[in-house]
Amino acid sequence: MIDGFALAAKLETDRSLSLAEYEALLRQRSEALAASLRERAVRVRQAVYGNTVFTRGLIEISSYCKNNCYYCGIRRDNRSAERYRLSPKEILDCCREGWDLGFRTFVLQGGEDPYFNDALLCGMLRQIKREFPACAVTLSLGERSRDSYQKLFDAGADRYLLRHETADKAHYGQLHPETMSWDHRMQCLTTLKEIGYQVGCGFMVGSPGQTERELAKDLKFVERFRPAMCGIGPFIPHKDTPFGAEPGGSVELSCYLLSILRLIQPNLLLPATTALGTLDPLGREKGIQSGANVVMPNLSPVSVRKKYALYDNKICTGEESAQCRGCLAQRMAAIGYELVTDRGDPKTI
Ligand code: 5AD
Ligand code: FES
Repeated sequence: MIDGFALAAKLETDRSLSLAEYEALLRQRSEALAASLRERAVRVRQAVYGNTVFTRGLIEISSYCKNNCYYCGIRRDNRSAERYRLSPKEILDCCREGWDLGFRTFVLQGGEDPYFNDALLCGMLRQIKREFPACAVTLSLGERSRDSYQKLFDAGADRYLLRHETADKAHYGQLHPETMSWDHRMQCLTTLKEIGYQVGCGFMVGSPGQTERELAKDLKFVERFRPAMCGIGPFIPHKDTPFGAEPGGSVELSCYLLSILRLIQPNLLLPATTALGTLDPLGREKGIQSGANVVMPNLSPVSVRKKYALYDNKICTGEESAQCRGCLAQRMAAIGYELVTDRGDPKTI
């Protein structure tokens, strides 16, 4: 097996490893190798983005979902989940508040909720873009038809986040009921790219059944797909799901993967996720210090935040969270990074 430190150097130079090499790099994870990857990743990120951190205001528009993913707290069969949907006016008010706070990207995220049909979403997108022409809008609303993705794009959506969840088809089958299709999800990602979206993929770290082998496939997939963004974070069990008693993912492995992803694609938009902050009070800081360059504070109305519970103990859901952006700006400043008021498009390199 090639030495992990040699693989780290090779990855920085070539921005690519073979599947077997990614797996070897993952299997040899140690604190020393993590430090080596971290140093390289921070240097590479610094060269592209300096010490700036991009921010997106996350608006959780619906906790209704027609899917039944085994890991997710808002899965259809979770009868204990509190359901809500925001009205177009509530969503627009979130954008107004967000704009004044300095957000220039709004992420509209929700479960797969048929209530949010194309006509409703397109009307909302046009309104948001009319009022804030300088903002970017990201959608994260799951799998839809090509026609729908096209309509939403034409109405002004700039970006689409759809985590692929796992690049291994058999593993996908362990995480989802048979009614959900890995092929269809992957097809959606290709379609989104063809339409012209800046596309984000991503996966959970430490999901049940995941080994270094599956993670190596995720890394190879990202290397080949070349997304604009990649969202990764630890799997955190939710008590009312089939995976409620499974062990969760770790901050350390998530940060290790963030460093590797930065080296694969130097300009990749890589968030330090809320899940990181949930497992470790300094998780998001650690993410940034491992190569991430985006944070996505919650901009949802405080009244609904507890209801958008994908996993247990999620942070930023209480009264203290009304000003997440200010909190994160301070946290980033404390480690030498600057939260900027910017759309945060990927830098072309
Ligand atoms: N723990 C961590 N992440 C989760 N997600 C869903 N459920 C969980 C969980 N229990 C992630 C999925 C999804 C994104 C919106 O949140 O990757 O794509
Ligand atoms: Fe939400 Fe600190 S980021 S309270």
